[in-house]
Amino acid sequence: MAERPAVKIGVLVSGSGTNLQAILDAVARGDLKAEVRVVISNRARAYALERARNHGIAALAIDHRQFASREDFDRALVRELRARDVELVVCAGFMRLLSPVMLDAYTGRIMNIHPALLPSFPGIYGPRDALEYGVRISGCTVFFVTEGVDVGPIIIQSAVPVLPGDDEETLAARIHREEHRIYPEAIRLYQEGRLQVSGRRVIIRDADSASESLALANPRPR
Ligand code: GRF
Repeated sequence: MAERPAVKIGVLVSGSGTNLQAILDAVARGDLKAEVRVVISNRARAYALERARNHGIAALAIDHRQFASREDFDRALVRELRARDVELVVCAGFMRLLSPVMLDAYTGRIMNIHPALLPSFPGIYGPRDALEYGVRISGCTVFFVTEGVDVGPIIIQSAVPVLPGDDEETLAARIHREEHRIYPEAIRLYQEGRLQVSGRRVIIRDADSASESLALANPRPR
């Protein structure tokens, strides 16, 4: 089969951008055939913009507060993404809900990552909510963005144990390490044309599935 071209991505951020960094590193290593065309933050001081500039990538701050509505802000996003020929939008710690303006412009072509095993603990406090609930296993989820909060079809999940003595920070750090593994992988599956959405499910062609005998029990049974 002919090799597919690099996927042109636009990354939306609001904060530190460690997931953006993981994506840039995967591209640099040659593990991911992608071209990051632009990084857009709704916060001018997001460190993610600095990371983009360090890689010579266009870095834009578009302050959502300058727009009268969510839709107007999204129209500005669409304009910048289209101007750079972006095919896939990657939300990486982007703290704004997308309106139908973005969802219609990039239907089935927007990914997000969430620091919990969805559909458990959606929203902005994934690790804290998981800890307070008392779950023994949490993790992270990459999914396609649809209308609604953290409800779209799931592409990859990775599970981590909740350990005695964990606080929000230690659990979030453990989850973060997994995010950095699965986000570039999800984008790679997209670039290779292996993802097909069927209702709520994502069908992955030739998926390298976890083995049937692999399970994470916590605590470990004797
Ligand atoms: C991650 O925990 C991600 O799951 C959530 O926002 C955080 C972003 O972290 N959506 P970073 O900016 O990529 O370090």
